[in-house]
Amino acid sequence: MSHQRYAGTVLGIDIGGTGVKGAPVDLESGELTADRVRIDTPKPATPEAVGGVVQQIADKFANEIGNAPIGIAIPAVAQKGVARSAANIDPAWVDVDVDALFTERLDRPVHVVNDADAAGVAEGRYGAAKGVDGVVILTTLGTGIGSAFLLDGKLMPNTELGHLELDGRDAERHAAQSAKEREHLSYAEWAERLQRYYSYVEGLFWPDLFVVGGGISKKADAFLPLLDLRTPIVAAKLRNSAGIVGAAYLAVEFGS
Ligand code: BGC
Repeated sequence: MSHQRYAGTVLGIDIGGTGVKGAPVDLESGELTADRVRIDTPKPATPEAVGGVVQQIADKFANEIGNAPIGIAIPAVAQKGVARSAANIDPAWVDVDVDALFTERLDRPVHVVNDADAAGVAEGRYGAAKGVDGVVILTTLGTGIGSAFLLDGKLMPNTELGHLELDGRDAERHAAQSAKEREHLSYAEWAERLQRYYSYVEGLFWPDLFVVGGGISKKADAFLPLLDLRTPIVAAKLRNSAGIVGAAYLAVEFGS
């Protein structure tokens, strides 16, 4: 199964805390071939309930996607298609074989990956980390902090750097975009927390490049210049579609 064979026809879906977003992806260019569809994440967001939403999105694009596999990004550890954690989603996901559940429901191969891993692969293939050798760490700043490690463009999955313990607490509770919102922090105040976080991460892993993704990366100019790091740090290029694009890409890669 080659990426070329499905160029323009692979559906990527990104499951988030508030919305489930999907679109067909052209794997040659990494671009969406149709406007994204967004449906509110059901409450409670159990695998079955979310499966219904995923099905609605797949039905919408039935003509574009043919019989290609579908890639799905979830905000949790995904080990060979099995969800293993639930920091920001319903605990019912833990230990569910999501690949098997959704493959049966959608009647076609479905491949589930961690959302930050999907974004990292998309940025490595088509975006801010394209052609970058060495160690790239992408972090997504949103409800939580997700991370993806690339070495010469190849992913090491499920790194979970949002859960590093920093100053006695889970780093994402203090430094994610949700902490900025929850505590009404200015960009300058939030940047102090990001400074502490990224300094810690770079001291442990010595990356060659940081890429910052997540919705807030649109506003990167408001906080990235405030950081003083030895590692270059840039905003993600694919912005909000990185999860969709990477999920689609990995669906074909895993399916081969
Ligand atoms: C989860 C990660 C996820 C990140 C971003 C964290 O709380 O543990 O798996 O990638 O949030 O959604």
